[in-house]
Amino acid sequence: MCGIFGCILKEGNAAPLIHASLKRLEYRGYDSVGIATLNDNKIQLKKDQGKIDEVHRILNLDDLPGTIGIGHTRWATHGAPLKVNAHPHSDCTSEIIAVHNGIIENFIELKSELQNLGHIFASKTDTEIIPHLIEESMKTNPSLSFAEAVQETIKRLEGSYALAVMSTREPDKIVCARNESPLVLGVNGNGVFCASDIPAFLPITNKAVMINNGELVILSPNGYEIKKIKDSTPVNREPETIEWTPEMAVKQGYPHFMIKEIHEQPQTLRNTLRMQDNYLDLITTFLDRASEVFMVACGTSYHACLAASYMFSKLAFLPTYPVYASEFVEQHGKSVNIDSTILAVSQSGETADTLAAVTCAQQRAATILGLTNVIGSTLTRVSRVYIGTQSGPEIGVAATKTFTSQLSVLAQLALRLSKKRGKISQDEMDCLEEKLLQLPDTVDTIVRTQEEKVKQIAKKYKDSKVFFFLGRGISTATAFEGRLKLMEIAYIPSIAFPAGESKHGPISLVENGFPVVFICPKDDSHKTLIGNIMEMKARGAHIIAVIEEGDEQIKALADDYIEVPKGIPSVLSPIPFAVPLQLLAYYVALEKNYNPDMPRNLAKSVTVK
Ligand code: M6R
Repeated sequence: MCGIFGCILKEGNAAPLIHASLKRLEYRGYDSVGIATLNDNKIQLKKDQGKIDEVHRILNLDDLPGTIGIGHTRWATHGAPLKVNAHPHSDCTSEIIAVHNGIIENFIELKSELQNLGHIFASKTDTEIIPHLIEESMKTNPSLSFAEAVQETIKRLEGSYALAVMSTREPDKIVCARNESPLVLGVNGNGVFCASDIPAFLPITNKAVMINNGELVILSPNGYEIKKIKDSTPVNREPETIEWTPEMAVKQGYPHFMIKEIHEQPQTLRNTLRMQDNYLDLITTFLDRASEVFMVACGTSYHACLAASYMFSKLAFLPTYPVYASEFVEQHGKSVNIDSTILAVSQSGETADTLAAVTCAQQRAATILGLTNVIGSTLTRVSRVYIGTQSGPEIGVAATKTFTSQLSVLAQLALRLSKKRGKISQDEMDCLEEKLLQLPDTVDTIVRTQEEKVKQIAKKYKDSKVFFFLGRGISTATAFEGRLKLMEIAYIPSIAFPAGESKHGPISLVENGFPVVFICPKDDSHKTLIGNIMEMKARGAHIIAVIEEGDEQIKALADDYIEVPKGIPSVLSPIPFAVPLQLLAYYVALEKNYNPDMPRNLAKSVTVK
């Protein structure tokens, strides 16, 4: 998730406006920043790694001439957060320059095709292929206008993008396009703007034009022209008036970052499914060779590891040990050795306990693999191989979208390992791969259809003094995560157990009206889980069940139920089943008048041991 901005002004310099607008997009990422303007038929460029203020202090980003320009604030996905990878990126002739937010899935093939044609690349980014493809298109077909060359290029891109491109050949234009990554135009008496998000231009105009997937836009001093990428059909769209305050705009109209981030999950899951094969394959190879695998993490990331231990065991027959990072040194510090592999999972990549576990293992020559949302974080620097979870910055203290992204990447690793080891049938593999691809839509359905119901359940149980969360098998991890969410933002003491364990002690707490949340995928544990529900009901518990659509057996037993779409394989179930629990915690917190984005005593990144 990066921020892009572009503008064509009638009066005044573009650079200071681009700089100020990028500052308002900094919540989308801040690994590096760059601005390019067009003046006297030449591209003027300033860019560097670091936050906008740091780079501005050294380079003075406002000091670029010209009334037209583009800018970018980066959240690294392909290539480390270094100057060389900072946007804008240009072609071989320095006549075409582009900024991009998104992931080009087929960039490796396109890059090698361009390299064979003699193109020279400076960066490791996927974006850099875009100006080179445009250059190539204009070279092979000189009669194309700049916009037509961009259009031809875009037709070859697979993946997600919001991009803005300029060229010295037509120095009064910016061409933009969108597929999946957000893009919006702004207009006022002094010019036209394109941006990743409305807050970028809200202080200068509240007249916005939303751009849809598959649309190309030509910005010029005369205004904007929108057309369909596939067949150039013109699109007429008038600006609408945005009533949001700047604060509401950063949250895209949502009252809190947490609910915004819950709603972003269909998109963030789509991003994780675009992961580059080579990184996944490399980690899979290390896991395959390992004689023991410890998965170390804290909090929500630990729950992702717990779920993954079931995935690796069931799909790839690989036993793994999920360990709380804060316990790792005491528990395994002496035995870990050169044959051990550590898969460290951390949203921030900066959690002190996780890094301490990694340091201990590294000193004993173990292999370190990392899974993190922040490329450039300490975890990426100390890992032999790492993967980014591509969720974009998560601002709410409670981890939501990063949890489901971690699970999606871990599931892909387990599937690859399974394939490599030949552990499951082709039919089963095909079915799991298909279901994995459907997960973004599944999560979208859950959020769309169940949010109102969850709100009612939150109202009903908001005064409960304590909650139970129970599940069997892999759903134990989902139960743990549901409990953590409710405890950390709604401050309700909660208990989670594997459902089978509850009768070995915790059940003694249950009395009339005691709320018990059961996680009930339709998997091998379903029958036994019904027995566990009966045990609780017999003692007066109120059953809140998260079930698969049409699960009439559990519906009949539950006091309240939340439904997720049918047919989710057990190993993938924590992804969709966690979503109603995130919503439950959020709405209980609201009922109790707590700010879910800033729970007391907590920090987004815990950098002390
Ligand atoms: O950045 P990390 O994933 O390493 O953070 C780990 C925990 O601190 C984090 O998951 C924490 O438990 C969250 N508040 C959970 O919502």
